[in-house]
Amino acid sequence: MSETAATSSSVPSGETTITSRPPWWRHAVTYQVYPRSFADGDGNGVGDIPGITSRLPYLRDLGVDAIWISPFYTSPQHDHGYDVADYCDIDPLFGTLTDADALVARAHELGLRLIVDLVPNHTSSEHPWFRAALAAAPGSPERARYMFREGRGPNGDEPPNNWASVFGGSAWTRVPDGQWYLHLFDSSQPDLDWRNPEVGDMFEGVLRFWLDRGVDGFRVDVAHGLVKEASLRDQVLPQGERPQSGVDVNGPAADEVVDQPMWDQPEVHDIYRRWRRVLEEYPGDRMLVAEAWAQTAEALARYVRADEMHQAFNFAWLQAPWSASAFAKVISGTLEELLPVAAAPTWVLSNHDVVRHVTRYGGGAVGLARGRAATLAMLALPGSAYVYQGEELGLEQVEVAPEDRQDPTWLRTRNTDHPEVGRDGCRVPIPWSGSKPPYGFGADGSEPWLPQPDSWAPLTVEAETGDPDSTLEFYRRALAARREHAGAELGETVELFDLGGAAAGAGDGADVLAFRRDDLTVIVNCGTTPVELPAGEVVIASQPLTGTTLPPNASVWLH
Ligand code: NOJ
Repeated sequence: MSETAATSSSVPSGETTITSRPPWWRHAVTYQVYPRSFADGDGNGVGDIPGITSRLPYLRDLGVDAIWISPFYTSPQHDHGYDVADYCDIDPLFGTLTDADALVARAHELGLRLIVDLVPNHTSSEHPWFRAALAAAPGSPERARYMFREGRGPNGDEPPNNWASVFGGSAWTRVPDGQWYLHLFDSSQPDLDWRNPEVGDMFEGVLRFWLDRGVDGFRVDVAHGLVKEASLRDQVLPQGERPQSGVDVNGPAADEVVDQPMWDQPEVHDIYRRWRRVLEEYPGDRMLVAEAWAQTAEALARYVRADEMHQAFNFAWLQAPWSASAFAKVISGTLEELLPVAAAPTWVLSNHDVVRHVTRYGGGAVGLARGRAATLAMLALPGSAYVYQGEELGLEQVEVAPEDRQDPTWLRTRNTDHPEVGRDGCRVPIPWSGSKPPYGFGADGSEPWLPQPDSWAPLTVEAETGDPDSTLEFYRRALAARREHAGAELGETVELFDLGGAAAGAGDGADVLAFRRDDLTVIVNCGTTPVELPAGEVVIASQPLTGTTLPPNASVWLH
């Protein structure tokens, strides 16, 4: 399937015109649902599939095009579903396969596409394959599906190499017969050996299982990690640095490229070429989006070559600080690197792994103003945008009390010299209605799996609906404006420009991002003084404007 599907139609004169219609994902706004925390249909404190289905009209009305759902498969939930014990079934916590079918059908009925999450780097330690591996002897075919190795040191009692788990501690765990297995994440998430053909065959079956059920695409977890450098050699660490995963999901992008024998190996791309071929056997524009924490824009672009994935999350955008020059650098770097592969860019500010962007940008009223401004800029950029549940309500990162934390990152590091609070703070269940927890997330009196703050009453969907100043109404307006003014009909070229006189007139604090896409002009004031706007009609602003200036921490679209 080509990336631009050509459609032909007859015009009254009898001539045939050819118009080109890009596939849906190229310009889609996709809303990420973290199922544990979206909507709890059965009142057991954990969100579920019937809950999601019941809220689909809300998402349609919000104005998104697609939904990506984090894993809902059978799982012991040590990493909240990113530890899969059966890729072709639903965990009873979330529902049944029948519920999943109903979700797909209802989404399609409402005109929404549905992307599921595929977790191919590792299984759960409760997957039948890993159980069989533990029961089998070293050197057996069962062990060969994972990365079992002998240890180092006189009795083999040191791990095979110095790799660290992304969640803290060593990436190796020893089993009773003395061998070690690799887990780049939790010890309950053993890494598969993708050099073993059985693994690729198994996942082709998984892809087909979900494609046959009608899903529109897959978000591919840890897409940069499936193949490790064959030597499994030590990672060379900058002097004085402790072993680290190379993925710091809460920190800024590393300025220097570091040695990463566990990530982004050239052979990984063969896997995605095979998957692309599988998807192309199916009707409709099915798609793959990579979660690949590549170290450079150039490395990321390799995942979206014409015969590989369709998209890759652009984490550089999410990692950029609140700074016009940082935003400009990411925009130009992204577009430049994607040009040779002709892939559409993606933009994302928050997800279930990172501190919510309102908090990253300073929190409180300033953080919220900046969050809205950055969102409006994102929605004007070419390509597709990803929105994480709750950001449309202006939610901030929650400080979850130590005794309530559940993230394996916290559990693995809490008693070390480098404790990490983990990611629970961006995963607190969504407030829908009412004035106290569970705020309509589940039945009254039910207890959400992570406690919701008492301060959330003004941030429920119910409270924000109809209030023109609310973040929810702002998102609704912004998504509608994108459809009307910044959709597929605009070119994919972005012209960054200097506001010149207007910015200069703003004083020394001027730090302004300005770009054009055809006749749409976008200005983001990252500085500390108001900026004089160029001539033009205001399409939408991230906050009410008075006169012809744009206040700090605000953005605007002009025609
Ligand atoms: C990335 C996912 O987004 C994250 O939540 C998960 O913990 C790791 N991959 C491991 O699967």
